[in-house]
Amino acid sequence: MDKKVFIGVYGCQMNFSDAERMEGELRAIGYTRVDEMDEAGLIILHTCCVRETAEDKVYGKIGEIKHLKRKNPRLIFGITGCMAQKEQEALIKRAPHIDFVLGTGRMGELNDTVKIFEERISASKSNHVIDTSNVDTDVFEMPDGDVIARQSSVSAWVPIMYGCNNFCTYCIVPYVRGRERSREPQNIVNEVGQAVKKGIREVTLLGQNVNSYGKDHKKADFADLLKMVDDIDGISRIRFMTSHPKDLSDKVIDAIKNGRHICEHIHLPVQYGNNNILKSMNRVYTVEKYRSLIKDIREAISDVSITTDIIVGFPGETDEDFSETLDFIREMEFDAAYTFIYSPRSGTPAAEMGNQVPEDIKHERLHKLMDVQNEISLAINKKLVGKTMEVLVEGESRNENMWTGRTRTNKIVLWEHGSEKIGDMARVEIKKAQTWLLKGKLA
Ligand code: SAH
Ligand code: SF4
Ligand code: F3S
Repeated sequence: MDKKVFIGVYGCQMNFSDAERMEGELRAIGYTRVDEMDEAGLIILHTCCVRETAEDKVYGKIGEIKHLKRKNPRLIFGITGCMAQKEQEALIKRAPHIDFVLGTGRMGELNDTVKIFEERISASKSNHVIDTSNVDTDVFEMPDGDVIARQSSVSAWVPIMYGCNNFCTYCIVPYVRGRERSREPQNIVNEVGQAVKKGIREVTLLGQNVNSYGKDHKKADFADLLKMVDDIDGISRIRFMTSHPKDLSDKVIDAIKNGRHICEHIHLPVQYGNNNILKSMNRVYTVEKYRSLIKDIREAISDVSITTDIIVGFPGETDEDFSETLDFIREMEFDAAYTFIYSPRSGTPAAEMGNQVPEDIKHERLHKLMDVQNEISLAINKKLVGKTMEVLVEGESRNENMWTGRTRTNKIVLWEHGSEKIGDMARVEIKKAQTWLLKGKLA
């Protein structure tokens, strides 16, 4: 048997975290992970469908795998994740060389499904398995003992909740990830504790809307959880994402302010800077509410960095709405913004709205927005030149002949390597600022 698995991961941190769990599970039935598809006997694409471009990438890969299947009929090929949940049988209709499609609520079935195909292949039968049930119930809790195949020895993703209840009108996530389910606080604390014992210095608590953690089981809310994780022996840094402005409470702001290890960075997607569009997006807050939230955060937490997500080209967006948004972005002075072109997702309310914005206008607006934000990010980063910052050492950078790490405020720093090791806290004096990163030298 070719007990080698290639896992292609698309989409958000939640998917990267899932993949570490999938790899951990698959190890139990003898698989090791490889980086090249043509070395693998099992290929899994763990997919995203948040925008059409995300799906296009996966369809491209599915096409490539057709050739591999032709060369090696014993190859097992499955699709998991959000696109599996969204497309279900349609995937197999379009690409019959896919063996199995497991939805986001069926990840616990992965090993059993793979075993079915291992047996079918030796008996040379081929049938498909499509299972996308239980989208609202699965929490992918790991059994005792850490079977998560973490990709980093320094930083760990720790999901604290699954699903989303918000139904922003453009967004497919609630349909493919189901309703909010919070993990037991004690399981999260145990997982972080185990990771720290293995040398992990930084954890990122993950959820679509971490601020509504615990609203279901009521055993702890997000602020309580932050405090519990902050008290874990040996933890150095705590991050979390994503925060929804409607649920970011004073209690959470206080927890960040008073925490010892909670990093001074909040990713707080605003999505847009005009009330009509925010309403039509079902974001449930106004520009005024968001502005006052940012003021509260900045007053409470000194030197906090705030990043955001923004969508241009939402249905009905006018030139005036857009220029209001540009003004709002200038006013907010975000450290960074992830900017997206609105992508209609079938089954979501916004896809049915009239007044869809033409593609060329969407692109034009995106570029204007990026120009404005890049200038702001650069100006903020330039203010850091001359400062010495604490950087958690992640290792060699991929592109430049330098080492890389992050500040507590989640800025990427590059510097020339000295005697520091991966996982150390280095002191780096910032010498040069760019839009998306800083360069410095060991202090
Ligand atoms: N739960 C998180 C992130 C979800 S997806 C949150 O609420 O912020 C990440 C980002 O993708 C969103 O913040 C949004 O800006 C963007 N996004 C979601 N659906 C989209 C769509 N249909 N078109 C373009 N961007 C989208
Ligand atoms: Fe999507 Fe909104 Fe939920 Fe985020 S909060 S996942 S944007 S529905
Ligand atoms: Fe994509 Fe699913 Fe994440 S749609 S953004 S992978 S939750």
